[in-house]
Amino acid sequence: MSHNQLDAKSQAWSALFSEPMSELVQRYTASVFFDRRLWKADIQGSLAHAEMLAAQGIISAQDGADIHRGLQQIAQEIEAGTFEWKLALEDVHLNIEARLTQLVGDAGKRLHTGRSRNDQVATDVRLWLRDEIDGLIALLRELQGALVEVAERHIDVILPGFTHLQVAQPVSFAHHLLAYVEMFARDEERLRDVRRRTNRLPLGSAALAGTTYPLDRERVARTLGMVDDDGQPQLCLNSLDAVSDRDFAIEFTAAASLIMVHISRLSEELILWMSQNFGFVRLADRFTTGSSIMPQKKNPDVPELARGKTGRVVGHLMGLITLMKGQPLAYNKDNQEDKEPLFDTVDTVRDTLRIFIDMIGGERDPATGERSGGLTVNREAMEAAARKGFATATDLADYLVRKGVPFRDAHETVAAAVRHAAGLGVDLADLPLADLQRFHPAIEADVFQALTLQGSVQARNTVGGTAPEQVRRQIARHRARLG
Ligand code: ARG
Repeated sequence: MSHNQLDAKSQAWSALFSEPMSELVQRYTASVFFDRRLWKADIQGSLAHAEMLAAQGIISAQDGADIHRGLQQIAQEIEAGTFEWKLALEDVHLNIEARLTQLVGDAGKRLHTGRSRNDQVATDVRLWLRDEIDGLIALLRELQGALVEVAERHIDVILPGFTHLQVAQPVSFAHHLLAYVEMFARDEERLRDVRRRTNRLPLGSAALAGTTYPLDRERVARTLGMVDDDGQPQLCLNSLDAVSDRDFAIEFTAAASLIMVHISRLSEELILWMSQNFGFVRLADRFTTGSSIMPQKKNPDVPELARGKTGRVVGHLMGLITLMKGQPLAYNKDNQEDKEPLFDTVDTVRDTLRIFIDMIGGERDPATGERSGGLTVNREAMEAAARKGFATATDLADYLVRKGVPFRDAHETVAAAVRHAAGLGVDLADLPLADLQRFHPAIEADVFQALTLQGSVQARNTVGGTAPEQVRRQIARHRARLG
């Protein structure tokens, strides 16, 4: 660490300090190696602030123009990789400001008028997160679209639905996939909701109490696109709260955790389904790996990792929420610890969604827009599994109810028939009519229609049920919603 760098930093506050920081403390307190990722938002915020300062006559038009020019150049330098990030300058904000002053002199030193790093960093994180949320919403919609496409091709494919991982009732594979579409649709709603509270402007709160300069906060909010659906500027309206709370980051991480929990449940099913005992689906080879010792293996590494990374994101939620607890008003340096978990959450969710879009839906041909190479479905294996485990037992009970038998009695009757069939090692549908009639005289030849997988699925024709008619209706609704 050169003395020059230390000097550069002590200039950022004042001559009050008589002793340089030790190198370890400097590394401990610096954030530039991770928060430099906020550079675009930082420059965007500074441009809006400077433009407003000039418009309000707080700095001269010339200073405003110089700041603008300097910040543009810095953006180019960062983009080109020629910007020199200095640990001694602690964070992204001080690095950019120091370079600005180097480039444009006193005008650069005027940029920080009426501003503190406290409202600056809160603004940067909000701007950055807002744009990342938009990217995640787009990906979530793409994943829903991919699931709907696969569902549409498999409306009449039947697999066993499970409760307690025991065969319960037959369901359409499309219906099963659409369950995940519902989950991801709610995740999308949650992200939109978080976005509203994220997209509010802290700038103008200064260090904690507001500032003595006649700032026009609404102008800055408009410049930064921090407006509601009606174009009204959205400001944080208490300066102490504005610089200190990170609840928007916490609720984002909570929404992200739920996305991952849904991904994790889907992963768990994919892992089960592609195991030899199920054999329901195959993932394209590019999502699996072999074993170094067992030549026959194809391991579902991607879904397993996604399930694992869910723990990581939920961990970030715990980290952030614990970070906030016990902090007195207003800003405390603890909050610098908000960034790495937040960044990692965004990266993890983004990569996971991108991989799942491809793994489920396949790669999209840029020319035709068609996807290929996604999930392969083994319809025979699914249906064979649905024929095991007496998946249509409820249908026999419902059949008896239609013949006037009270449901509880019908339930008892069917239980006895299942026990009998299990003893013979056959399905209910394999029992001769005379056998079935021994359990209840109301049973007639039309019972076999109720006992088929197709009959069972078709009969569940209530809104939100698994009958093809209902599934088609939901697919149409999702298609209209997803555009
Ligand atoms: N790097 C700091 C952070 O991320 C910026 C704000 C610093 N403010 C302060 N008063 N030390 O939180």
